[in-house]
Amino acid sequence: MKFKKKILCIGAGYVGGPTMAMIAYKCPEYKVNVVDINPERISEWNSGKLPIYEPGLDEIVKAARGRNLFFNTDIEKGIKEADIIFVSVNTPTKKYGAGAGMAADLQYWEKTARQILECSESPKIIVEKSTLPVKTALAMERILTSTDNGIHFEVLSNPEFLAEGTAVKDLENPDRVLIGSSQTEEGLKARDELIEIYENWVPKERIITTNVWSSELSKLVANAFLAQRISSINAISELCEKTDADITEVSKAVGLDSRIGSKFLNASVGFGGSCFQKDILNLVYLCRHYGLDQVADYWEGVVKINDYQKDRFVLNMLKAMFNTLAGKKVCLFGFAFKANTGDTRESPAITVSRKLIEEKAELRITDPEALNNARNDLKDIKGKISFIEDPYEAASGSHAIAIMTEWDLYSELDYEKIFQSMNKPAFIFDGRNIADHNKLFEIGFNVYGVGRPPLTHF
Ligand code: NAD
Ligand code: UGA
Repeated sequence: MKFKKKILCIGAGYVGGPTMAMIAYKCPEYKVNVVDINPERISEWNSGKLPIYEPGLDEIVKAARGRNLFFNTDIEKGIKEADIIFVSVNTPTKKYGAGAGMAADLQYWEKTARQILECSESPKIIVEKSTLPVKTALAMERILTSTDNGIHFEVLSNPEFLAEGTAVKDLENPDRVLIGSSQTEEGLKARDELIEIYENWVPKERIITTNVWSSELSKLVANAFLAQRISSINAISELCEKTDADITEVSKAVGLDSRIGSKFLNASVGFGGSCFQKDILNLVYLCRHYGLDQVADYWEGVVKINDYQKDRFVLNMLKAMFNTLAGKKVCLFGFAFKANTGDTRESPAITVSRKLIEEKAELRITDPEALNNARNDLKDIKGKISFIEDPYEAASGSHAIAIMTEWDLYSELDYEKIFQSMNKPAFIFDGRNIADHNKLFEIGFNVYGVGRPPLTHF
């Protein structure tokens, strides 16, 4: 089949895979090739069991794969034949050298830029899909124009706003698609080519255009604002615990103000995921770089409160369980950083597990999708940890349950049966406030939520 245009995506991860699957699904006249340096990941994308769990993803991949969606490891060939290249490689927090623990590690991204330059034989549009510090497109452009090969590369910014667990829904029906371009004739032409792709399914008015720098910065700011809401409500949750107020009621009352809005006001054990912390730290680093220390301190507070919330969760467990966890069995319900994903990157469950092990507790971890990742996250820990698929089996014989992930499953279990199988007094620490606390208390549990008075039998 003759395709209208050839798209390449470098990086077949949580963003590259689903976004390209959606483009291929919605635009059969484009050939979409997804490449990665990781051959196992690619073979999983070509198999019956995809490398990531996302509701609805299997269906769209199956519909497009082999038709106009292809996964492979031949990056060189992919670059040569592509008209449009999306760069969707990982940009984690730097762990070494200048900016360690704060700045974005751009090594994967820069390698990609150099490889594009090396392998290109024709003009290309390069689309930044990865989340990058503002002004990164300039660095990309400098690398791409560092030789006099006469090939024109036009760099666009098109950040991704999907959330894991709802990726397919978010991609199919995005609040907005943001495209940043330079305001030159070539920049605007490239921008229009990208708009043409999205217009296949996204209403025109939701496709917004800006200059490149606004687009890059908007992505960091959107994540910072979302995370800030969670840290704000989590900060208030501690005050609720001291004052007999209930965070769920406060959050409802506050969120009904249409200027504030009700979303993202669920108090929790803390936010996780590969991006919130990384992107805020990156924002903080940028502010410090420009000498904006007060601004940097303000945003850094969001991450500090999040760390504090995770620490506080474990300290509350310790205090409630008579100041010792040594030798006690604690069952973690959920390990993924949120429901409907197997992703455990920066999951609060990792921090909580490590702290519980420091207290010499014995861990029994259960999760419907994330057990393999959990094993990997905790593989360096010396301590008693078991990974058990069945939540009833995991809870049996435990002294306490800690709900780490808001999987629906955990609000629907037979807690009467679970209570019977546990050591007494039985404790439940609901890090997501998803269970029916009054009912659990009636069953006999001592119940501790986030931001509400505990319900105890002593
Ligand atoms: P990921 O780690 O799941 O995927 C990145 C992929 O890039 C990996 O498979 C890796 O092997 C591959 N890769 C790295 N260097 C490469 C190279 N030189 N050539 C080919 N492949 C290479 O990461 P992700 O979660 O998909 O995130 C990618 C970017 O998107 C990040 O910048 C992230 O901040 C941003 N983002 C992520 C999400 C999310 O929900 N995960 C949402 C929006 C934006
Ligand atoms: C987030 C953003 O929502 C996406 O728009 C963005 O594209 C993405 O980061 C990214 O750049 O990677 P994601 O991390 O997948 O998406 O998931 P969220 O739904 O934002 O949840 C993040 C964390 O906050 C989870 O641990 C979740 O449990 C927690 N959370 C969320 C709360 O504790 N309370 C809430 O009210 C909402």
